[in-house]
Amino acid sequence: MQIHEKKISFLGKEPTALQALPRLSEMLGVSLYIKRDDLTPFGGGGNKLRKLEYLLYDAMEKGATALITVGGAQTNHGRLTAAVAAKYGMKCTIVCIDDYPGEISANLLLDGLMGADVVIKKNDGRGDDIQFEEAVAEVRKKYETEGETVYFIPVGGSNVIGALGYYEAAVEITKQADEMGLNDATLITAVGSMGTYVGLYCGLKNEQSPLNLIGIAISPFNDVKEARIVSYFNEFKETFDLKLEATRADFHIETGYSRGAYNNPDITVRKAIYTMGEKEAILFDPCYTGKMFAGVLEMIESGKIQKGEKIILLHTGGFPGLYTKHHRVEMEAELKHHITVIE
Ligand SMILES: Cc1ncc(COP(=O)(O)O)c(C=O)c1O
Repeated sequence: MQIHEKKISFLGKEPTALQALPRLSEMLGVSLYIKRDDLTPFGGGGNKLRKLEYLLYDAMEKGATALITVGGAQTNHGRLTAAVAAKYGMKCTIVCIDDYPGEISANLLLDGLMGADVVIKKNDGRGDDIQFEEAVAEVRKKYETEGETVYFIPVGGSNVIGALGYYEAAVEITKQADEMGLNDATLITAVGSMGTYVGLYCGLKNEQSPLNLIGIAISPFNDVKEARIVSYFNEFKETFDLKLEATRADFHIETGYSRGAYNNPDITVRKAIYTMGEKEAILFDPCYTGKMFAGVLEMIESGKIQKGEKIILLHTGGFPGLYTKHHRVEMEAELKHHITVIE
């Protein structure tokens, strides 16, 4: 499959680093590595830039001058859409169905800093889909009245075009793993809107990669998600004419580590974040990567991941989430003993 066409290349030619985690590996008895997609080059970095390379190409081909995307108030995807819009001189609005978080911090602050508008519409209890549809229609109308051409990007950049970014990443990771003697490794990613997982799955399978793939769901994997993962895969395969077959059973998604909700404060997740920080000085976030790593630690503890296994953690970014109020207050209480104030 031709994966290098039809993208605006802003990640550069060098792959993101694949690094060993020696202190954590020693502590856990597992060979741990990390793929640094948090270090993609602008807007604070993260997995969404890979998707946006392909989405931006499509947007430009359609003559777009304004991007609209959707998510929660702390969407990392929204922040990186704002970043791309800033770099390519486009307008950008992020539409959120959420309660006002009480302060403009973390991703919300960064959105404004990069010139994007954010519309936070209070959840009125109807389905998210209809609320997003109405709010997006209003922003679209406003832009069109001003003479802009709008390109809409779905939540998380997770459609077939966005997933191409992680198809390509699968090729990149396979090559790096081969060079580092990690052909028998398992790649583990957080799973939200699923574009990262589906892109990786299709890339690994279609390019006959020896790597194993596990996704860890960061929110309850309800019936809608169960159906969506299969339909997303089928849509991707049909769009790009891949000779792949898969049923739900082929997608290894760990659904037992979501801790009951999306982006909820959780002590086990915070402890996992502290462990990564104290041992390797790498910053995980409470919503995605910290939750994924908390799941990995429990899988090691329970023997689901066995001693001596080779594991590649995909660092998908998200560090601004550390500064979200409802996470930050918990961490302040737990970490204040590190701070000494001398008057
Ligand atoms: C930091 C971070 N990690 C992981 C994910 C999950 O990726 P996906 O939505 O493609 O499943 C997201 C999505 O928003 C994210 O922001």
